[in-house]
Amino acid sequence: MYLKYWGLRRFPFDNVADPSFFYLSESHEEALSRLIYASKMGKGGAMLTGDIGCGKTLISKVYSKKLIEEGSDVSLLSNPPLGPVEFLQEILYQLGISEVPDSRTKLLQILHKRMIHNMEQNKETVIIVDEAQILNEETFEEARLLLNFQSNNRFLLTLVLLGQTELKLKIRQIKQFDQRIPIKYHLPPFPFLGTIRYIMFREKKAGFARNVFTTKSIKTIYEYTRGSPREINSLCDLSLLIAFNKKKKFIDSGIIQSVIDELR
Ligand SMILES: Nc1ncnc2c1ncn2[C@@H]1O[C@H](COP(=O)(O)OP(=O)(O)OP(=O)(O)O)[C@@H](O)[C@H]1O
Ligand SMILES: [Mg+2]
Repeated sequence: MYLKYWGLRRFPFDNVADPSFFYLSESHEEALSRLIYASKMGKGGAMLTGDIGCGKTLISKVYSKKLIEEGSDVSLLSNPPLGPVEFLQEILYQLGISEVPDSRTKLLQILHKRMIHNMEQNKETVIIVDEAQILNEETFEEARLLLNFQSNNRFLLTLVLLGQTELKLKIRQIKQFDQRIPIKYHLPPFPFLGTIRYIMFREKKAGFARNVFTTKSIKTIYEYTRGSPREINSLCDLSLLIAFNKKKKFIDSGIIQSVIDELR
């Protein structure tokens, strides 16, 4: 709607997990580098938790893209099924295996064969489970058992769990699982400076020739969103629309405040 008015190629603050719009903040870089370390070094398990809308799903996509480019065999479960058999089926399906059996034993045999094959080819097998906080107890147990696939003291796969803070608490209660996840990170929201950089990054990516958000307006954005990227996006998107309707050329804190009052 407002693209032409602002002279943009695309919407700067869309709430979609698009790797081409990925801003490598300090914490996102730390998260990504820990996940890369886990799979490169064959650490077995890794877990990335974080507050709602902080960028976990986006990281899962950037990470999986990077692994695939480097030749790894990746199964990314963006919307994991709750039950254990469906969970194994989805892993195989996301590995590109279209005909998946119903029996747990057969599913595990196929997965084992694939992992051995990958190992012989010097390929990492990486299973990434987003939204892992929704899995039920039995499925957590199935996921834990996957870490028993080892050969010559090396894990045959890397299991990466991503989820909201609740996941951390759930895993902590399953001691034998928790101990098998040596790499962990909790993604925080952006600090104030990070919020400024994030907004500037997205402005530039979308085609703004100059920064339209004043520093004061970003201060108001930060106070309201506490640095949550998804909330920053929603607020910025709506304020660009309102500024367009009012034919304003900058976003000042007055505009942000009026959007906030509306949202409240
Ligand atoms: N580092 C980043 N660079 C660019 N955009 C980001 C970044 N982090 C988050 N975002 C934006 O914030 C939105 C929310 O991120 P995402 O969906 O990855 O969060 P999440 O942590 O998976 O949330 P949930 O807890 O609801 O699953 C994304 O659609 C994306 O637009
Ligand atoms: Mg998510």
